[in-house]
Amino acid sequence: MTDRELFDLAVKAAGNSYCKYSGFSVGAALLCEDGEVFTGCNIENGSYPLTNCAERTAIFKAVSEGKRSFEAIAVAGGADGGYSDDCYPCGACLQVMSEFCEGDFRIILANESYTLDELMPKRFRL
Ligand code: THU
Repeated sequence: MTDRELFDLAVKAAGNSYCKYSGFSVGAALLCEDGEVFTGCNIENGSYPLTNCAERTAIFKAVSEGKRSFEAIAVAGGADGGYSDDCYPCGACLQVMSEFCEGDFRIILANESYTLDELMPKRFRL
């Protein structure tokens, strides 16, 4: 699975985004160490703080299916159907990643990729 292929799956997942309040659709595609991919989209709520980001949707889907080891996540987000390199995962999603992933876990955007270490160098671990 190339970065581009994973990103394309994230773009496809963004098509299911439920973003009636922000109009900002996001899709994510999570690559498990066994090669399986789980996708997710953002799911907004009229009670705004209950919104779930695309990344956490994908991670929670995977974890609830028994997956615990992950290699990379692609994130596709943007207003008006465009996907830009500045749709970084939010702090809450980075914290959820840090529960399951090591520092070399890769975060793939439209044309760039980062490690978890780069985007969240100091992470809370219980
Ligand atoms: N959003 C994500 O899905 N992932 C992020 O990492 C940042 C933000 C969503 C939440 C909300 O539905 C919309 O983008 C605008 O904030």
